[in-house]
Amino acid sequence: MLDICKIGEEVLREKTSDVKTFDSAFSTLLDAMFETLAEADGVGLAAPQVGIPQRFFIVDLRKGDEGKFVFVNPEIIETSVEEVPYEEGCLSIPGIYREIVRPERVKVTAQDARGKRFTISAFGLLARVIQHENDHLNGKLFVDYLPEEERAKIERRVMRIERKKRKRKA
Ligand code: NI
Repeated sequence: MLDICKIGEEVLREKTSDVKTFDSAFSTLLDAMFETLAEADGVGLAAPQVGIPQRFFIVDLRKGDEGKFVFVNPEIIETSVEEVPYEEGCLSIPGIYREIVRPERVKVTAQDARGKRFTISAFGLLARVIQHENDHLNGKLFVDYLPEEERAKIERRVMRIERKKRKRKA
């Protein structure tokens, strides 16, 4: 199981680099991320969230293998004009949920776990998760869409709770 970094940790804001090697170590890491994501009961997890400033994320829509995706070096190449609100949460910002407005559909090109390039058009939950996770690769969190004052308040609150947790563990 991997540790999930929380808001306030530098790595979530760092610049990320492209993945260049698709070896067995990479695939082992992806397996560990899928396990971590399932354990945390989330639907998406980006590399910076587990302390790795690289451009990839995974999605698990909880529908078995059909709902599992790996996006490596992704690029959103089209977004719909229509936007929709949706309540988002993030494993790096535990306990916080806010309605965020984003494009309803996206087209994304990426590489899979073996480096093979693919392009998909997504709507609904998948489109939402792709946009949220892709933001992580650019050092962006969903609370950044909120008014600055609210974002800062949320960040302080989560950091306070996480500090207490660490103290209890120590
Ligand atoms: Ni997130």
